[in-house]
Amino acid sequence: METTGTKRPDWVEEAWSKAKEKTLRNLVRIGDGFPHASVGGAYALEEPHWWTAGFWPGMLWQLYEESREEKLREAAASCEARLDEVLDGYDRLDHDLGFMWTLTSVASYKLRQDGASRRRALKAANYLTARFNLRGRYIRAWNPWFEGDDNAGWAIIDCAMNAPLLYWASRETGDPRYRHVAEAHMDTVLEHFIRPDGSVYHIVEFDPASGQRVQARGGQGYAAESAWSRGTAWALYGLALSYHHTGNPAYLNGSKRVAHFLLSNLPDDHVPHWDFRLPPDVKKHRDSSAGAIAASGLLLLADQVGPLEAHVYREPAVRILESLYRNYGAWDRADEEGLIVEGTSHYPEGKNVGVPLIYGDFFFVEGLARLRGEGTIFWE
Ligand code: GLY
Repeated sequence: METTGTKRPDWVEEAWSKAKEKTLRNLVRIGDGFPHASVGGAYALEEPHWWTAGFWPGMLWQLYEESREEKLREAAASCEARLDEVLDGYDRLDHDLGFMWTLTSVASYKLRQDGASRRRALKAANYLTARFNLRGRYIRAWNPWFEGDDNAGWAIIDCAMNAPLLYWASRETGDPRYRHVAEAHMDTVLEHFIRPDGSVYHIVEFDPASGQRVQARGGQGYAAESAWSRGTAWALYGLALSYHHTGNPAYLNGSKRVAHFLLSNLPDDHVPHWDFRLPPDVKKHRDSSAGAIAASGLLLLADQVGPLEAHVYREPAVRILESLYRNYGAWDRADEEGLIVEGTSHYPEGKNVGVPLIYGDFFFVEGLARLRGEGTIFWE
């Protein structure tokens, strides 16, 4: 296994080709659909408002940039156009605006300088900014899930990955307000979400009127005080991206602290369990998506620290991606559309446990792009 220096590991080209070939095969059925979880071997296609809508087109853009396969571009552009009904419909928008429009419109604009894509991404950034709670200094996560539900005070760690849309909007317009909101939210992440040991809360509830912290809540992890691995990965990567965009060392140090917690909790094959803090009688399913997200974040961290330290983050990132490739890849399986198996989307609700997830596939491909040292990273 190649783990030293920044030389491209020898298995990476093979993995890239297999990911590209399998995606081209999947494109025939999925087209401009919105896959989330592959249950029974075929990706279930969601409505466009679902938070995962950006990952398939994002992966198509990533593979298009290298291959110039027109059908990848056409499907990605068509997904973006299909999202207009969500953007213009307004009611179903929540903090996931960043996930959805960074990997569609920002990606399209970065690769093709498309003016319509720029306008869509700026609209999305404006809606995301409008979710900011000034007193609590957080971006509101969701809307009420049912009649009478009140979650105006809830913020979640996943939103660390939505901040890059706001940094992009400030750069693009020259108006610092967007990044002010992103930085205020990320300061709240450091203060209220990252525990002293580097583990991470999923949901923190604030009083939306006063801004005071009320409590932490259980979400997609096992319990409020457990350590949901995908949330850990969102924090690691989101903080590293905020350091990339701002140069604020508090974000770099926060990301490193989370990275050290994650790395010290990886099992022997380097792919995380779905929660790092489980009672002994709860099954330790893997969440391969957490591994893929963390690996891409660790590779960014490796680029951000000095040469004495880079290997601390790069070597485990390479080990995670190589394990995903060799032990979790469904490359030649005709009975499975997912690229990477054994993701866990929502264990507490019993949803999508031990199955491929589209964001696992996306971040695996993005991690390969980082290892290849080529291609645009859309969050940056
Ligand atoms: N809600 C984002 C996630 O499942 O990670």
